[in-house]
Order: sequence, then C-alpha cells, then structure tokens
Amino acid sequence: MTAAPNRGAAHAARRTDLESMLSTIRSRTFQMTDALTDDDLHRQFNSLMSPIVWDMGHVANFEEYWLLRELDGRAAHDPDLDGLYNPFDNPRWVRADLPILDRREAATYMDNVRGEALDLLRHTDLDPDTPLLANGFVWSMVAQHEAQHQETVLQALDLRDDLAPYVIATPRRLPRRTDAVDDAARVTIPGGTFSLGTDDRTHTYDNERPAHAINVDTFAIDKFPVTVARYSEFVRAGGYQRQELWTADGWDWITEQGHAAPQGWIPDLDGGWLVRRFGHITSLDPAEPVEHVSFHEAEAFARSLGARLPTEVEWEKAAAWDPETATTRSYPWGETAPTTDHANLGHRGWGPAPVGSYPAGASAYGVEQMLGDGYEWTTSFFEPYPGYTMFPYPEYSEVFFGEDYRVLRGASWATSKSTARTTFRNWDYPIRRQIFAGIRLAWDI
Ligand code: AVJ
Ligand code: FE
Repeated sequence: MTAAPNRGAAHAARRTDLESMLSTIRSRTFQMTDALTDDDLHRQFNSLMSPIVWDMGHVANFEEYWLLRELDGRAAHDPDLDGLYNPFDNPRWVRADLPILDRREAATYMDNVRGEALDLLRHTDLDPDTPLLANGFVWSMVAQHEAQHQETVLQALDLRDDLAPYVIATPRRLPRRTDAVDDAARVTIPGGTFSLGTDDRTHTYDNERPAHAINVDTFAIDKFPVTVARYSEFVRAGGYQRQELWTADGWDWITEQGHAAPQGWIPDLDGGWLVRRFGHITSLDPAEPVEHVSFHEAEAFARSLGARLPTEVEWEKAAAWDPETATTRSYPWGETAPTTDHANLGHRGWGPAPVGSYPAGASAYGVEQMLGDGYEWTTSFFEPYPGYTMFPYPEYSEVFFGEDYRVLRGASWATSKSTARTTFRNWDYPIRRQIFAGIRLAWDI
C-alpha cells in the first residue's frame, strides 16, 4: 500500500518519537538494574514481588510477543520463555524457583529483541486502519509496559529493609514553595454531568475507554495530597488503635499485621519520624505527601477526620474536567507534556515533593499535585466503563475487573511521563502498601 505523502512525513515523525520513547525508558531500566548486585537481582526477597531479573526477562518477552511475533509473524526466540514469563502461569511466589534467564542472558534477550523491533519499526507503515498499528499504538503500549515494570521494581526495592543504600536513589532538587501552604485547604467541585474516560486509542489502555457522560453531586476535595504532618497526627492520636475508625476488613488486617505507621516509617527519638527509602534513612518532611499506605489506612484516616475518600469519578472530574470548554484535559494543567514545573514524575526526586510545589500543575478547579508524587486511593472498585471493549488482550485489565481491587488514580514520582495522564486507572488490593500511593480526602457538601 502506498501511503499519501503527508502521511509518510507524519509517520516518520511519529516513528522517531516512538523510538526515542522506547530508548529513553530502556536506558533507565538498565541504569536501575546495573546499580544492583547479582543477589539483589536474582533473589526474591518478598513473596509479593518477583525477583527483579524476572521483570527484565518478562519485559523482553512481552516486547518480543507484540512487536515481532504478533506484528510480523516471526518465530519465538525460545519457545520455553513464554511459559516462564507468563505472569498468570507463574504467580510471583514461584518465580524465584523457575529456570529463568540470569542477568546477562536477560540483558542479551532485551537487546536482541529491541534491535529487531526498532528495525521493524523503521519499515512499518503505521496503518491507521489497523488498530495495533494506528499511530504506533502497540509500540507505545510496549514502552508503557516497560515503564510500569520499572515502577514495580522500585516497589520491590523499597519494600526491603535490608537493602544496601541504592546508589542511584539520590534525589535531584525538587521545587519547593517558600510561602506558607495550608495543607488542609479544600476545593469545591460543582455537581453536574461531565465526560469520564477517553476515546484516545493511541496512548491509553482499554480500561480508560470509552468516554461517557456521567453525573456527580457537588463535593469538596483536598487541594493537596494528605501530608506527613496531617497523617502523623492520626498516628500520634492512636488512629491505629481505635477500632471504630476501621472497617471490619481493615481492622482484621491491621491487627494481624501489627502495623502502626506507614511502610518505611521509623520512630525518631524526638517523637518525629525517620523514613527508610531504598536503603537510605532520612528525616521525614512533614510537608510532603504521605506514601506507602494501604486503602484500609487511607479509609481509617479519612474517617478520623469525618471525611471520606473520593470516588474515581470525582477524582477524574477534579483533575481532568475543564468546565469552560467542557472538555477532558490529558493532564490537569492542559495538553502540554509534563515538565519539571508541572509534576514530580520519572524518578527524579526518589520521593514525593512537598505540597504546594507545583502550582503550574493545578487542574482547572485549582486542585494540585494530582499527577506525580503518589497515586491516590479511591473508593471505586476496578470495573469496566459502560461500553468497554477489550483491546488488545484480556490480561491487561479484563481479568482484574471486580470487587477484589480498588482503583488508584494519578501517578507517582516513580511513574514515567508516558503513563501519567488524567484518565489512567491503576488498581491494587486494599491491603497493599508497597505501591507509591497516598491519600486525598473528599467531603459531601
Ligand atoms: C496496572 C500496575 C496494576 O503491574 O500488575 C504490568 C501493570 N500489567 N504488566 C501490574 C502491568 C502488565 C499492572 N498495574
Ligand atoms: Fe507485565
């Protein structure tokens, strides 16, 4: 098929963008893994997480499957690898015992697949009538997949309390507002119908589609994520011991686990808190958003203040809806790709930034830090939107739909720019706190 000349030029530009997105993400993957010892890479130190070398092989296997075999009908590099790297055949707790590739083999597999995939990309027409190819969808999906696994790897490392200080976890300076910030400020979001989700078929996952009209009642929402200062008051006031603040499930979980503070918090001698992050122990900034709390902790905290968590619909309206133009923004601030003035993304800070640091990232309603820093728990179960159609495989979203998972919205400091957007939906079990997630409160009006 001969492409129209304009289409040829546009496609060449898009191919260059995709190549650079893939390359940027890949450099970071190797930077992250090169900084780890063989033992750190090969050992499974927590049954929740894979050995990190599994993520490496899995990323390559996913890319091989979609970009070489599915798109171009090529034969598998090694048919046995599919079985080893299929997450559904191998729950995380068995992955250390599988005959998976070691770090050198996995890196070679990643390089070989990538070489072939880029070569193919340079010769592929991004045929708008083929859903996998249109505007480069499947390359973007593969890039986002790798970026999401980077976040998983960081979660695995941050769960460890025996990790030697991770050398690349050295925070670059994050912005910080110098005037006083009221960390309990609220914004009222007027009720009414807006459009939830998106019809974008290039950059998004199937669970974000289709866009559809939905009504919400007027509500109030925190202007900023809940800070360490606010959360530590809950801890100090015995929030973890007051059963009336917890649901039955939450109370069962907290009494069984014995947690009395967020993951990584260490009591300091003066009554304040230190935090362990990636093997580094530092004092905890009261102005930064709390992270590493479970849904249960988020809910109990909300109840202690007579508040609640937002629904994901409320969250998206506050983040994405532009009432002036009646359109959904891709980012809270508009359509401009995220810069370091908008949000704390892409592993720059190795932790959340103090609240008030990103006024340029405010939503149309003036709500801040909805992307970056930490994901935020919502009360919503992970369910398909009306009119959902699975694409391109059921194991991304569909198999997880139901009441086992709660939706988290936003993005964390560890999220790549390629997956940070207002319509993105994350999900996890309500007991999980390895995820870089915090809290934003809501109130009925
Ligand atoms: C969307 C973060 C829940 O890690 O299970 C990675 C992302 N999907 N490989 C996950 C994902 C397939 C997914 N989350
Ligand atoms: Fe995956």
